[in-house]
Amino acid sequence: MDNSLKVKFSLNQNWISEKKAVVFGIFEGEEIPCGLGFKKETAEKDAEKLFPVFLRIKKHFAHKDFSGKFGEVAVLYPDDTMYKRIILCGLGKKEELDAEKIRNAASAGIAAAEKLHVHKVSFTLFGSPRQSAEDRLRAIFEGAALSLYAFDAYKTKPKEDPAPKAVITDVEFLLPEIIEEKDIAAWQKSLDKYVVVAEAVYFARNLTSQPASVVTPKFLAETAEALSKQHKNVTCTIYHKKELAEMNMNGILAVGAGSDNEPVLIVLEYDPVIPKHRDNGASPATDKSIPTVALVGKGVCFDSGGISLKPSENMEEMKMDMAGAAAVMAAFFTAVRLELPVSVACVVPAVENLPSSKSYRPGDIVKTASGKTIEVQNTDAEGRIILADALHFAVSNFKPTHVIDLATLTGACVVALGSHYAGLLSNDDALAAALGVSGAKTGEKVWRMPLDEAYKKQIESEIADVKNIGGKGAGTITAGMFLKEFIGDHKSWAHIDIAGTAMLSEKNTYRPKGGSGFGVRLLVDFLEGLTRV
Ligand code: BES
Ligand code: ZN
Ligand code: ZN
Repeated sequence: MDNSLKVKFSLNQNWISEKKAVVFGIFEGEEIPCGLGFKKETAEKDAEKLFPVFLRIKKHFAHKDFSGKFGEVAVLYPDDTMYKRIILCGLGKKEELDAEKIRNAASAGIAAAEKLHVHKVSFTLFGSPRQSAEDRLRAIFEGAALSLYAFDAYKTKPKEDPAPKAVITDVEFLLPEIIEEKDIAAWQKSLDKYVVVAEAVYFARNLTSQPASVVTPKFLAETAEALSKQHKNVTCTIYHKKELAEMNMNGILAVGAGSDNEPVLIVLEYDPVIPKHRDNGASPATDKSIPTVALVGKGVCFDSGGISLKPSENMEEMKMDMAGAAAVMAAFFTAVRLELPVSVACVVPAVENLPSSKSYRPGDIVKTASGKTIEVQNTDAEGRIILADALHFAVSNFKPTHVIDLATLTGACVVALGSHYAGLLSNDDALAAALGVSGAKTGEKVWRMPLDEAYKKQIESEIADVKNIGGKGAGTITAGMFLKEFIGDHKSWAHIDIAGTAMLSEKNTYRPKGGSGFGVRLLVDFLEGLTRV
């Protein structure tokens, strides 16, 4: 799978020249585009050149079909300016503009450009005065790059489209002239970094959308292994059936028992190179100043429900039940590629949940690696069983400062939050708050639910330590309460239920139909935030 961006992204300061399609952002009622900046010395000259452009845009407002409202788009073909096509994107009210709205506006700009016969699009750095030019670049880049993704690996011939879209090959960002020549290298470095993050989102989307016949537990393991070989400071260990049995990982073994595609536990470790000034001779593991984050992802490559078989309608969607694994692996390798100064461990239990004579059954009792026993009342609540072993492994092997798991865990989460928010359950207010901030910043939003002891009763079993379903009501919370049983006495754990956000049934601005890559940018921002403190 090729996860690189197919489109060339570049910076350009020379935007006073003939261009085929330029995207401007306009606030509601302002009539003049925002985000332009000229050097004092040349301001007058440049403004003069752009004057016809401004005049043409201003004239367009007279038609009253564009007023700068958020989501509005207009395409102008001015004969009297140096630009051949002008795409106007409404930004709405200035005080309401945030990074997500910029991403959406950039996405609308791309969609408009695709309908034109251009291959190259130029973006001005629109945004509000509250947003630094760099934040704007990031948001516009993300909106554009993530919109230009397509999962078309299996299309043997192009769609017969009555209105074929132009293939965009180049996107450039018009940096204001006020940026000094010497700062351009730093801007390029930022752009390169954003490309790494976007590639990680592509990676997660591809893994999530690929069929289960391709993305098997073995495939996930081989992908992790191949990527780990490309980087120093990364180790990858794959535990197969035999080792899993030796480690008493009977949860993973039980869920994976029904399939010939055998279960594995994938473990990745990254230790950053310590910058000189922080190197006090201590190894990363003992250097208290370096946080260690364990990322755990549900890797159910196909969830048929097992013996508690799911209805056939929409069952094909359950190829996405490894989206948590895809997101944590993507975030892990981004931390590696960006050389973030934080230790990261990534733990992925990968299985296929199928019915067969080898399958685990309702009524079975599974003794997990932690020693706790689970009464299986429904083989379709399998994610929590494999995560029980994986979480126990993560907390007992890495002494992490924080543990975060991502999982397409419950249909109840889809009922509660739909596709716009992921569910968040945590035993640490500070961690939950930090994830809330990262969610708001990246547009990968999380909504916290109570991890209250009152719900514990619902998962109590009469014959084992815990049962794997929580009866009527609060399905996302009882699943969280179940996982909490397996983190020992760890004080900083968060569970993110991405059942509703990991795969979309229709395109939503810069998120495509299919695998969304949800959680990658959220986790990367969280890891970056940890390194800033
Ligand atoms: N993988 C599903 C959860 C899911 C549902 C993800 C819809 C994405 C979209 C999970 O393994 C599951 O089947 N959960 C059951 C649990 C129930 C049996 C307690 C569910 O939510 O119905
Ligand atoms: Zn299930
Ligand atoms: Zn599942």
